Amino acid sequence: MGTGEWEVRGEDMIICRCMEVAVKEVVEAIRLGADSFDAVKRVTRAGMGLCQGRTCQHLIERLITEETGLKTGELQPISIRPPLRPTALKNIAGMKT
Ligand code: FES
Repeated sequence: MGTGEWEVRGEDMIICRCMEVAVKEVVEAIRLGADSFDAVKRVTRAGMGLCQGRTCQHLIERLITEETGLKTGELQPISIRPPLRPTALKNIAGMKT
């Protein structure tokens, strides 16, 4: 693992608060071949929480770059599946409250 805050805070630190996934789980997934945010997501469920990765995506991508040596620009882009936030049907229908 690279140097920096991961070593200071430890691999038990939760990196995805929504799904309660620890750094060590993400690192293990990366070492098993998950080299993109979506791949890590499929293995660990990190990024599948309420915020849909808005909080943890960049941290996980940083771990991927540290572990694999890939540059940020070389990472596979995430797949986006709408709706990004829960939406009330009245908002879709244009109804006033
Ligand atoms: S912190 Fe990971 S999905 Fe919200």
